[in-house]
Amino acid sequence: MKSNRYILLLIGIALLALQCKDGFDDENKCTSVPANATPYEIVIPPFFPPMDIPADNPMTEEGIDLGRHLFWEVKLSEDNTLSCGSCHFPENAFSDPNQFSIGTQGIAGNRQAMPLFNLGWAQDYFWDGRALTLEDQILQPVPNPIEMNIPWEDAVIKLEADDVYPGKFLTAFGPGAITKERTAKAIAQFLRTMISANAKYDKFRLGQVELTPLEEMGLDLFIREGGDPEDGNGGQFGADCFHCHGFGNMQFTDHLPHNNGLDSVFEDLGFGGISENPLEMGLFKTPSLRNTAYTAPYMHDGRFQTLEEVLAHYDSGGVASTTIDPFMKYTTGGLQLTEIDKLALLAFLNTLNDEEFIVNDDFSDPFE
Ligand code: HEC
Ligand code: HEC
Repeated sequence: MKSNRYILLLIGIALLALQCKDGFDDENKCTSVPANATPYEIVIPPFFPPMDIPADNPMTEEGIDLGRHLFWEVKLSEDNTLSCGSCHFPENAFSDPNQFSIGTQGIAGNRQAMPLFNLGWAQDYFWDGRALTLEDQILQPVPNPIEMNIPWEDAVIKLEADDVYPGKFLTAFGPGAITKERTAKAIAQFLRTMISANAKYDKFRLGQVELTPLEEMGLDLFIREGGDPEDGNGGQFGADCFHCHGFGNMQFTDHLPHNNGLDSVFEDLGFGGISENPLEMGLFKTPSLRNTAYTAPYMHDGRFQTLEEVLAHYDSGGVASTTIDPFMKYTTGGLQLTEIDKLALLAFLNTLNDEEFIVNDDFSDPFE
């Protein structure tokens, strides 16, 4: 009996190995890299946490190259006019300088396009966190009526009929049809390579450059409790940005949803619109503060044009609502920053801009 079971197990393993030899399969979640593909070893920048790469989407040179082409591919839109890059511009750290992006139907959405960098470290995607993986996120803009507006079946037919894509999919994923899942996997591989970690602040952490006195003052405000100590909330006249925008993880977000006091009544319910949890009404994904020189306008609805306006908002403490975050100083008259404090914070935020990232040729349109 025992040996029979052992033999069955061996046969099972052999069968699995056979399936995997030809690449991984969406159903079987096989983790091997196809025979003709070159494994890609992602380089994690200093002080960054490790990146979680899904076991069923290992990165390969060919997968990343395919993903880059697909990111810039207008065939993923109904009338061949929009690619992902039409709303996510490199010079804007892959966000959109327009308050609301326009889809193929000429209809504008009601949210600001988000910048795309360091997404491999994020825990959820979109302003309301409705996608839990990058692969899942990418499935959404293509059929979205206010974005690329094409059923995935039709987009896949266009890729199948193309001169180069069938070959590129074959080397990246092994034999098998082009599918929306494989398309999303390739783009996710590409997005995971879009790492921004070359700002002045990164060089400072490596001991390669020094911060100016003003930048250092801004850093100190960033990581100090806000408000007046007399008010009894442990305030230390700081700007208190670090509670939500992180610090130690080098991401400049805590990856959690918060309500930073923009509205007393919520037009956009944010996380609450998805979960229907009253405690999440008006909460939005906390964006990274890297590259803010390139990502205006700001907030989920692009309501602020400048960082000065953003700082004025935090200085005011925001407006009361059912879910405003306790770290907002709305009850005690705001942060009470001086003009010099604001200049210092701006100077510090500017040390988080990565000039090399926005001109990195590895991410640019390969069709140009
Ligand atoms: C018509 C403009 C438009 C197009 C085209 C578009 N996007 Fe977006 N993108 C947006 C907007 C707007 C958001 C925020 C939407 C929301 O939160 O509901 C967004 C959000 C995202 C996010 C979430 C980032 C984060 O930090 O959570 C990713 C990733 C993304 N887009 C990737 C893509 C990819 C890949 C494509 C192509 C398949 C694409 N986008 C096409 C406008 C667009
Ligand atoms: C209570 C948590 C919290 C605190 C404290 C906080 N933020 Fe934010 N921040 C957020 C959230 C959440 C958003 C997105 C809100 C939205 O769009 O609805 C945001 C958005 C921003 C944006 C816009 C980024 C973009 O790409 O649109 C900037 C800039 C910013 N914060 C800077 C700061 C600074 C500087 C401080 C300290 C003075 C600070 N924040 C303190 C949670 C916080």
